[in-house]
Amino acid sequence: MYDYDKLVTHFITSGYYFQGSEIYGGISNTWDYGPLGSEIKKNIKDMWWKRFVQESPTNVGIDAAILMNPKVWEATGHVSTFNDPLIDCKSCKMRYKADDLISSQFPNVEAGKMSNDELMDLIHKSHVKCPNCGKEDFTDIRQFNMMFKTHIGVTEDSQSAVYLRPETAQGMFVNFKNVLRTTRRKLPIGICNVGKAFRNEITPGQLTFRTREFDQMEMEFFTKPGDDLKWFDYWKGKCLDFIGELGISKDKLRYRDHDPKELAFYSKATTDIEYLFPWGWGEIWGIADRTDYDLKRHMDYSGESLEYLDPDTNEKYIPYCIEPSVGLDRLVLMTLFDAYSEEELPDGDSRIVMHLSPAVAPYKVAVLPLSKKLEEKAKEVHAVLSKYMSAVYDDTGSIGKRYRREDAIGTPYCVTIDFDSIEDNTVTVRDRDSMNQIRLNINELVEYLKVKIFF
Ligand code: GAP
Repeated sequence: MYDYDKLVTHFITSGYYFQGSEIYGGISNTWDYGPLGSEIKKNIKDMWWKRFVQESPTNVGIDAAILMNPKVWEATGHVSTFNDPLIDCKSCKMRYKADDLISSQFPNVEAGKMSNDELMDLIHKSHVKCPNCGKEDFTDIRQFNMMFKTHIGVTEDSQSAVYLRPETAQGMFVNFKNVLRTTRRKLPIGICNVGKAFRNEITPGQLTFRTREFDQMEMEFFTKPGDDLKWFDYWKGKCLDFIGELGISKDKLRYRDHDPKELAFYSKATTDIEYLFPWGWGEIWGIADRTDYDLKRHMDYSGESLEYLDPDTNEKYIPYCIEPSVGLDRLVLMTLFDAYSEEELPDGDSRIVMHLSPAVAPYKVAVLPLSKKLEEKAKEVHAVLSKYMSAVYDDTGSIGKRYRREDAIGTPYCVTIDFDSIEDNTVTVRDRDSMNQIRLNINELVEYLKVKIFF
């Protein structure tokens, strides 16, 4: 496994990531995607949409707004659970609201009015115990204020306070009826959405693994209660297949089932797909059976019925929901870490090569004229290729150096234009991984490459 810092330096110097607002000294844990990063991110997003929306007989997509009626977040519990002074038992990992924990053992103390320092002091002095395991070993109190709050309108009064969504999922739940009505579909149906989510994370870090602003690709798959576990297994498999298509090493992937203690109280089953990063296993994709929890909560808070009437059986029920939720930024990061390699070459030289699958690689092909005199022909070829795929043009340095540069950013094919190209309209096509070269007619180039990069 390669050193974390070395890889991060490579990704930043190549133009996958830039530090956010760098010329102002940056802003902590904020990253911009550079020319290479934005291409790979878009490719993965497009692949996800193709597999989970376009090719799916059951699914459709929406593009929900980031700002939602604040009642949404009351219904989901985010307003209360994202705003508490929370404390964890280090021994059994149970999490409590610090003021509730004190009040449950010292009912006469008005813990709700205390500052976090006062609460912590009291927990230590009064030997407050964990109700679950009886130990006195707690973390510090952390104010979980994970939703970003902002205001709609010109005045900053509480009437117009809104939140930046902490997940995209709720856009699908609140539009459940709209989607059924406008698509005239029956259950099961999956509603998919890609977009930004925001969380005021306590411990952001490891490049884009945990940031405060990130992209989620989520699906809420609604089904008849009783069919839910069958679909849970189905989507678990599809999510892993998708990661396989990104070309990720199988031995660095695993399913991790949540044990009953870890499960959210409304969830029947949850599995994470994890990847082995240089710092250890990290969650990439969470697949959860959320039962009818979300629809029920929205029914309670909105007063609208979100029941489903089965047109075939006339049965009325609240559907269950399977939710595969993945962070796009984590998929990109995993793909980059997995692709990096340092290799010795037969001639004693060495190279850095990003073994990115052609479907996700930022540039599919580089056009390299062997001489400046070949510029006109090379630019012609580049212009044709650019109509079909992202192609880069490079005419600086020796051809060996240019190959190394393209290997290091993961360009799967290099097309070299030489003086024969002028005579017979042929070019050399070099394969990044094998470094083998073939000669092709320029007229065949687009079709040859399209087959290789198609997903
Ligand atoms: N709707 C369910 C939900 O949001 P989650 O496990 O909190 O579940 C789903 O998030 C996925 O979003 C995670 O598996 C991860 O890939 C990504 N994610 C969550 N928090 C993130 C963060 N702070 N930075 C980057 N990605 C994040």
